[in-house]
Amino acid sequence: MTIREIVEYPSPILAQVSATVENFDKELKELVSDMIATMYAAPGIGLAAIQIGIPKSVIVFDCSEEGNSPQSLINPKIIKAEGEVNSEEGCLSIPGYRETIKRSERVLVSGFDLEGKPVEISADGLLSRCLQHEIDHTKGKLIIDRFSRIKKDMFIKWFQKKNT
Ligand code: NI
Repeated sequence: MTIREIVEYPSPILAQVSATVENFDKELKELVSDMIATMYAAPGIGLAAIQIGIPKSVIVFDCSEEGNSPQSLINPKIIKAEGEVNSEEGCLSIPGYRETIKRSERVLVSGFDLEGKPVEISADGLLSRCLQHEIDHTKGKLIIDRFSRIKKDMFIKWFQKKNT
């Protein structure tokens, strides 16, 4: 279990589309255990493999109140989405930034566990938001890619100010 460095915006790595995992092997289990350690250390409630520079479709998350139920999902996909809800969101790859984002209210997500067994997760609330956010990462998408032009300009100003 190793805490890895989190890739931050504006690294082009974050825009990469992650590859489908084919081998449910020891290497995958090690990747997931590193990702969970990295997520907790940050601290955060979700992390995608691309955020530690690995372009594989793997996400980890823990939306439990106690923060002691780490979960992972391989090759996650949204197969059903319903409703709309606005809520504030942040991203470990854009530290210090939070903004309101519109997302689906409820989602049905499919994927695989570490053994390669198909799983489905039906989610609402924080878990739904977290899954949608992490699945975006596997497609090379960040929260700012969901912004309107004006909001994105405001973000760029915020980012430039932060880095001067
Ligand atoms: Ni993120």
